[in-house]
Amino acid sequence: MQQHPLQSHAAITAFGAYVPDRILSNNDLEQMVDTNDEWIFQRTGIKERRIAAEEQFCSDMCFGAVRDLQLRYGVVLEDIDYVLVATTTPDTYFPSMAARVQAEFGIPASGAADIQAACAGFVSALQLANGLILSGAYRKILVIGAETLSKATDYTDRSTCILFGDGAGAMLLERREEGAFLASYNLTNGSNGHNLYRSSLSPTIAGVPIQTNSLIVQNGREVYRWAVTTVPKGINALLERNGFTTEDINWFVPHSANMRIVESICERTGISLDQTLTSMQQYGNTSAASIPLSIDLALKEERIKTGDTLLLYGFGGGLTESALLLRWTL
Ligand SMILES: CC(C)(COP(=O)(O)OP(=O)(O)OC[C@H]1O[C@@H](n2cnc3c(N)ncnc32)[C@H](O)[C@@H]1OP(=O)(O)O)[C@@H](O)C(=O)NCCC(=O)NCCS
Repeated sequence: MQQHPLQSHAAITAFGAYVPDRILSNNDLEQMVDTNDEWIFQRTGIKERRIAAEEQFCSDMCFGAVRDLQLRYGVVLEDIDYVLVATTTPDTYFPSMAARVQAEFGIPASGAADIQAACAGFVSALQLANGLILSGAYRKILVIGAETLSKATDYTDRSTCILFGDGAGAMLLERREEGAFLASYNLTNGSNGHNLYRSSLSPTIAGVPIQTNSLIVQNGREVYRWAVTTVPKGINALLERNGFTTEDINWFVPHSANMRIVESICERTGISLDQTLTSMQQYGNTSAASIPLSIDLALKEERIKTGDTLLLYGFGGGLTESALLLRWTL
């Protein structure tokens, strides 16, 4: 396998995940809007999602994932020197969720920042963490992807409320002789940002009027079309530019937006569905949490092994794509 300059000394040294207890099934949604299990499953591959309790927020998802990471790997958190949280649904804009994690786990001397790149957020945060370790300035970075999308979902809109769920995943990166990062890829199409958004202060995106209720709004057809066209091109570009082929990939971990999108990407790239890890059937679309939740399900089934090569591909609001080739070093 060809070595790429991006290959670094940031290794994956621990992993954890969390989903809330409450399940919202397709059958439950039938009681809320005019839909049915068959329609939802056929169009999206989703069976159920986890929904945070009324008093649970994004910070609680983060804490759950970090506690799981501690429990599974017995790691020390006190010497973490940076916390990055990818989320689009923070409890508060500030303090950041990363600062909440710092306080909850009593990390004495770390940087803390939230990354907002929607469904590409976790992969973007991993890329940034790798850069911070590569720079030589930091040694141990906690990266979390966490969402409480249920708090930002319009449960009267049947075209979006069937999609989203809550949860979190956490990955610890540490400076080591053997690194995990092989290659990366990013592409952004900000001109089409109005096709998938969650408003904050402005009533427009680049002059296009938008809904201003802070709930998730999307043009499903446009997002679908965009994803199945651009992601296969991105995968091919990432592999070709860095001297890899699909043969080098053990596991493809796309953002679990929708199974039909994933099937189309696989068909167009020649990646087998058998080597594709998803989490939408159990958890729905969990945005920044979906890729770590897919990894978590595969780890629990003992599918991912040390030394395996993973292709992570986040895509969504922005519209933004962020991908990584990783060697699993755990
Ligand atoms: C949301 C999505 C499942 C809708 O599927 P679609 O085939 O595009 O459906 P459309 O919006 O064209 O609607 C088709 C019909 O189904 C209906 N419909 C929409 N949601 C429905 C639901 N939950 N249950 C039943 N019918 C529904 C529509 O009202 C429409 O009916 P009409 O033809 O009588 O007007 C699909 O567009 C999609 O998956 N898009 C990508 C979403 C995504 O992954 N976003 C996140 C990216 S990060």
